[in-house]
Amino acid sequence: MTKITDSIAVRGNFIKNRIVMAPMLPFSFHGDDGAFYGKQHIEHYTDRAKGGTGLIIMQGTRVSGAADSTNLWSGENIAVLKKIIDNCHGYGATIMLQLSCGDVNINELSIDEIFSMQADMKQAAISACEIGFDGVEYHFAHGFTLSKFIDASYNKRTDKYGGEAINRTRILTDLLPEIREKTHEKFIISVRMGEYLPESHDGIEVAKIFEKAGIDLLHISFGMNPPTHAIPEGFKCSPMTYSGCKIKKEVNIPVIAVNEIKTEEQVKFLIENDYVDFAAIGRGMFTDSEFANHVINGQAVRKCFGCGGSIEKCRWFTDHTLCPGRKAK
Ligand SMILES: Cc1cc2nc3c(=O)[nH]c(=O)nc-3n(C[C@H](O)[C@H](O)[C@H](O)COP(=O)(O)O)c2cc1C
Repeated sequence: MTKITDSIAVRGNFIKNRIVMAPMLPFSFHGDDGAFYGKQHIEHYTDRAKGGTGLIIMQGTRVSGAADSTNLWSGENIAVLKKIIDNCHGYGATIMLQLSCGDVNINELSIDEIFSMQADMKQAAISACEIGFDGVEYHFAHGFTLSKFIDASYNKRTDKYGGEAINRTRILTDLLPEIREKTHEKFIISVRMGEYLPESHDGIEVAKIFEKAGIDLLHISFGMNPPTHAIPEGFKCSPMTYSGCKIKKEVNIPVIAVNEIKTEEQVKFLIENDYVDFAAIGRGMFTDSEFANHVINGQAVRKCFGCGGSIEKCRWFTDHTLCPGRKAK
């Protein structure tokens, strides 16, 4: 039986356990001296690494500016990112950076605009590797730009970026050989995506194409819209988490499931039954920086209150100090 504490190799990196911190932008954090990232970020991620998290996927980070070292890719931000990486590695965590392409209508992009986006996507991964991240996760989920490319009902392009699934994934797969050439052998390249695009067989097809193209890890959340389908009786997690279990059956690379995973029982259910390889925790990591250690040691976790009932109402979208589950420092 697989245990939560079993390490697992992803592209030669031994991730020490099966608990992942999901990528989450702490919107009300401020950088220092005009930078985007700062002490708050360092403390936040260091605490989650200290709390036993196996894999930290750092917040969605716009690729724009990567090709010319501006925006989030400027020197002062990179200095903070290096500190975060060093601290997380010091506690034995693996740390990746999520890369996002914002939210644009992909059907209106000119070929030159696509090429420019791809230049940033490619350079962002190369820079993340140079900074010291163990890998990157491309954000093909939640209705944002990259998810629109892979979604068959949204993508109306008639050029080589539209139509068949092989074309709808090209925005990334075309870049992989060049990224591999300029990053080290163990650099993890992951994709966060959904199952429904809009039909689950589309999601499965896309997942298989990414696997064949050399993606090392899949993180299954939702594509354009959260799934609402029924789940099998006795399945102890949400329909979105079940999406991850479905994709896991179809591919031979490790899969992360996410969404509303709140208890030791749920983490064990997913890992010990080999439904997926990793359980990612989102809001539960906000309220309990030691979520992983608590689960591993069979101690109660400090639960998220689920403010307002939906993710969008999470206080961390506006002002994290209002989070009722947050431990006052
Ligand atoms: C404040 C906040 C910020 C988030 N930022 C991101 C992000 O940058 N990238 C992303 O893919 N998902 C983001 N998410 C979604 C989470 O990664 C996760 O999928 C979601 O919260 C569901 O997991 P949970 O039920 O464990 O919270 C964010 C969620 C919250 C609450």
